[in-house]
Amino acid sequence: MNNVNVHGEETEKLRKENDQLKLEIEYLTHELNASKESRVQESDKSDKRFKRLFNHLTDAVYYFKIYDDGSTSTFIEVNETACQRLGYTREEMLTLSPKQIDGCGTEELKPVIKDVYDSITFETVHVCKNGDRIPVEIKTHRFEVEKEMYLLSVCRDITERKNSEREIREAKEQFENIVESSTNGITILQDGKWVFANKAALTLFDAKTKEELLGRNIYDMLHPEFHMECKEIVKNGGIHPRLYRVWTTLSGREIHTEVVSIPTTFQGKEANELIMQDITEQKKSDSMMIQAEKMNVVGQLAAGIAHEIRNPLTALKGFVQLFRSGTIPNEMFLNIMEAELERIDVISSEFLTLAQPANTDFTTVDIRDLVNDVIDLLDTEAFKKSISLVVENNAIETAVNGIGTQLKQVFINLIKNAIEVMQNEGTITIAFENHEGFILISVHDEGVGMSEEQLKRLGEPFFTTKQNGTGLGLMVTYRIINQHNGVVDVESKVNVGTTFTVKLPLIAEKVK
Ligand SMILES: Nc1ncnc2c1ncn2[C@@H]1O[C@H](COP(=O)(O)OP(=O)(O)OP(=O)(O)O)[C@@H](O)[C@H]1O
Ligand SMILES: [Mg+2]
Repeated sequence: MNNVNVHGEETEKLRKENDQLKLEIEYLTHELNASKESRVQESDKSDKRFKRLFNHLTDAVYYFKIYDDGSTSTFIEVNETACQRLGYTREEMLTLSPKQIDGCGTEELKPVIKDVYDSITFETVHVCKNGDRIPVEIKTHRFEVEKEMYLLSVCRDITERKNSEREIREAKEQFENIVESSTNGITILQDGKWVFANKAALTLFDAKTKEELLGRNIYDMLHPEFHMECKEIVKNGGIHPRLYRVWTTLSGREIHTEVVSIPTTFQGKEANELIMQDITEQKKSDSMMIQAEKMNVVGQLAAGIAHEIRNPLTALKGFVQLFRSGTIPNEMFLNIMEAELERIDVISSEFLTLAQPANTDFTTVDIRDLVNDVIDLLDTEAFKKSISLVVENNAIETAVNGIGTQLKQVFINLIKNAIEVMQNEGTITIAFENHEGFILISVHDEGVGMSEEQLKRLGEPFFTTKQNGTGLGLMVTYRIINQHNGVVDVESKVNVGTTFTVKLPLIAEKVK
């Protein structure tokens, strides 16, 4: 019985264990099935996600097989962007191979594809179904599946980039054409050396090739008078129009230019662009004009001067006759004679300097002394018309940089005009004044004055209201003052009078 019992207990235990095992297997199977199901679902989801991503990429994507000889299969898969861009349906695309959409020819594409080992990027053109050509940048990746080679290509539309590259290239070409065909010399100077020059600049400086000029020190060619100012401009920057510069060319010729200086950068470093206009010929004709006008003035003055000299000569002659008739020269007589001789000396030497050929060197000139000399010369002319020349000295600084004979010519013109327009006796006031680094010399008359119309025409060549006038006096005056970096101002009222004011930079200001 005991045995039976023992046996029965064991069977019962085994049965229970068996049931337990069954339950566990059922559970595991269920679990396994459940996880399998979720895995399938997950993979489905990621597949869909991948497809959506693949189709909605902004880049066209496709892949195809590549064979050992470099030839390729038709596309195995293409995304929607590729179809839309090229104008084919997906089905149509899958019948095409890469070479059929490549606008650069398979010969160009083949070596590229054949040599791909991992991934490369290259540019080509895709030809759409309607014949449109789209520039693309292609990133190609190689991968291997079961010993077969595939290439996956991601193609970016680079039309915009190409367009802007073309625009930049065209703008650069246009700019280069403009610079090269400009009749103005265009140069760039950096660290005191020429680093760029266009054709006109080479011609200007007598250089046959760019190499002859580039790298040269500009200060070897620029007239020393302008070195300091040029260095200041380079240091301080800013745009400077109409700078007057004199250069010596490579063949030793002296040229005169008008220069615009503009700060710029060249190869990433600060530089100065100089646009130069050759004014050598203009300078020559200007100085011929000034000379001609001067001779005209000299001619006009000659009669007055002769008269001026005749007066003291008459006095001297009288004294000589007096002495011949027995009068003993005393101190007073001798003093008068000396003064008369002195006057002849001053006037004739003043007249001679004026008539001398023009010296065009700039030197330090005391403008007040110079104007006083001119007043001396014209005093008799004024006196004959009962006009007094009055000087008002309010200037402390009077030194300017200039060409003495030319400045004299200016003030002879202005004072002579003032004398000529005064119909009755009166006063011509010549005043000197300093103002912010300049000296202002004004010539004020009590003459007929000028209307608005006349004022507008001042300085125009051959504009004259006088019977024997040339109408060149003021034109020459303006040119000379302009060359001295000065300005002429006019104020006038009909029947009241006119004031011409010449404004010239003082030397002291230049040195500062
Ligand atoms: N101070 C002045 N007052 C009034 N008009 C003037 C004065 N200065 C010049 N003008 C006017 O300007 C014109 C031109 O002067 P400009 O000196 O150029 O020639 P011009 O005096 O006529 O001839 P030229 O100088 O050869 O004798 C004069 O004819 C005159 O009409
Ligand atoms: Mg005149």
